[in-house]
Amino acid sequence: MKIAIIGGTGDQGLGLALRYAKSGEDVVIGSRKAEKAENAVAEIENLLGKTNIENLEGLSNPDATIIADIIILTVPLQAQKATLDSIKDYLDGKIIIDATASLSSNIGGFPTEFIEVWEGSAAERTAAILKDKDVSIVSAYSNICSSSLMDHEEEIDCDCLVCGDDDESKLKAIELVNKLPGVNAIDCGSLSRTRIVEKITPLLIGLNIKNRVHHAGIRITGLDKK
Ligand SMILES: NC(=O)c1ccc[n+]([C@@H]2O[C@H](COP(=O)([O-])OP(=O)(O)OC[C@H]3O[C@@H](n4cnc5c(N)ncnc54)[C@H](OP(=O)(O)O)[C@@H]3O)[C@@H](O)[C@H]2O)c1
Repeated sequence: MKIAIIGGTGDQGLGLALRYAKSGEDVVIGSRKAEKAENAVAEIENLLGKTNIENLEGLSNPDATIIADIIILTVPLQAQKATLDSIKDYLDGKIIIDATASLSSNIGGFPTEFIEVWEGSAAERTAAILKDKDVSIVSAYSNICSSSLMDHEEEIDCDCLVCGDDDESKLKAIELVNKLPGVNAIDCGSLSRTRIVEKITPLLIGLNIKNRVHHAGIRITGLDKK
C-alpha cells in the first residue's frame, strides 16, 4: 500500500512522512513543486542518517496521487480547495485521510481559535469539494502535533480520533494511524463528528503556548486499547 502525503513538505506532512518512512511504509511526499518534495525527502534522509531510502520518494501532488492507494492531506485550510482541484482527477477508488484543522490563523487570526466552515468541518469541506468523485473521506491526525511526529526517537503519547462514513475506509485509516508508535486510533463515528474533533486542535495549541511545551495531545480513557 502506497501512501501519498499531499502537502508533505510542511510541518505535519513531513512529520507523518518521517514516521511512516521510518517504519517501512511505502511513502511518497507530494508538493506543488516536485523539487520541493525531493528536498523534503533529503531532509528526512538526513534526519534518519540514511541515503536513498527505497520506500520514500518525492513527486508533484498529482503524480504522487496517481501512484498512491491512500492520500493523506496535510495542507492549510486556505490551500484545501486548490490542492484538491489539482489532484481530483486521480482519486478514483482511493481514500483521503484529511488532517486539516480549521484554525483562525488560516484567515489572519490566531491558531488558538477555531473558525466555522460552512460544511461543518474541514473534512466535510473536502467531502463537499469531491462530491462527484469516487473517493472516500476519513478525518484523522488533526490532534497530533508535528513536533511529536518529528521527534522520531520518542513514542508519540496521544490518541488519534478518526471519523468517517465508510467503515472499510475508516478501518484502513485506523490501521495506518496505529502504525505510529505510541498512538492509539479511536473510531469516533461518522465524518460529521469531525466538527467536534477539529475544535480540539486550537485548544492543544493554546495549551502548548500556555505551558511552554510542544507535545500536547489527548488521551481518551476507559476504552479497550489496541
Ligand atoms: N503543524 C501541526 O502541528 C498540525 C497539527 C495538527 C493538524 N495540522 C493540520 O495539518 C495541515 C498542515 O499543517 P502544516 O503546519 O504542515 O501546514 P504548512 O506547513 O503551513 O503547509 C503544508 C504544505 O501545504 C502547502 N501549502 C501551504 N500554503 C499553501 C497555499 N496557500 N496553497 C497551496 N499549498 C500550500 C505547502 O506545500 P508545497 O509548497 O510543497 O506545495 C506546505 O508545505 C493543516 O491543515 C493543519 O491545520 C497541523
